[in-house]
Amino acid sequence: MSMKYEFPKMTELIPEQELDDVRIIHRTVTHDEIVGQSLANLMLGGPHWLHSSMKPGTYCTMRIDGRLVMSDTWMERFTNQEIIEKATGDVLIAGLGIGLILTLLEGKDEVDSITVIEKNKAVIDVIGPWFDNLIIDIVQADVFTWEPPQSYDTIYFDIWPDICDQNYEETKTLHKKYGRYLRRSNPDHFMQSWMRDEFRKMRRRAIREGGYHDG
Ligand SMILES: C[S@@+](CC[C@H](N)C(=O)[O-])C[C@H]1O[C@@H](n2cnc3c(N)ncnc32)[C@H](O)[C@@H]1O
Repeated sequence: MSMKYEFPKMTELIPEQELDDVRIIHRTVTHDEIVGQSLANLMLGGPHWLHSSMKPGTYCTMRIDGRLVMSDTWMERFTNQEIIEKATGDVLIAGLGIGLILTLLEGKDEVDSITVIEKNKAVIDVIGPWFDNLIIDIVQADVFTWEPPQSYDTIYFDIWPDICDQNYEETKTLHKKYGRYLRRSNPDHFMQSWMRDEFRKMRRRAIREGGYHDG
């Protein structure tokens, strides 16, 4: 499947490094590994269709406290197409990660400014220097408690390391909180969370199967 927006190979941009609880590792995935074990275990979990196109190669991965939180596999590239397509004006992003989406947002003509909210200082220290661009402002804060000083044309939440039904409640909290900071006078205004539809489907399934407990 071809993609409209081609992200760069992040291993060529971000070197392997380690700071506090953050590690950037260039992880080589072999054909045998893909065949030999569950793809869901290999990467993030979640729906099988997302992982079925995993290809052998070397990927840029970020671990925080040993846990995989971001990589530049096909799945991440594919599920982050929409934000690249829809972003305009002043853009607010929650979650710096390896900066994958910034690589395309920073060069998009329709984007005027990008504010990134990232709670982990080591992530900012490791990745921030690679995005030293006048239009990018990286703020160390927790997106659940940060108070925006202005409104935005585009708001995107990308803070989750995994794909699971509990994340849906968090997207609801964030969409409610940040909805009033969305510049609705711009007909192209856009607010979304990474994989929100999938979180919602998983939650519905969990409710149907009796595995979902509120609170
Ligand atoms: C999946 S990664 C983000 C990927 C990133 N958008 C990219 O393009 O590479 C998730 C990031 O969100 C950050 N994060 C998690 N919870 C957060 C919160 N409550 N507020 C701000 N950042 C958060 C993590 O530290 C991590 O850097």
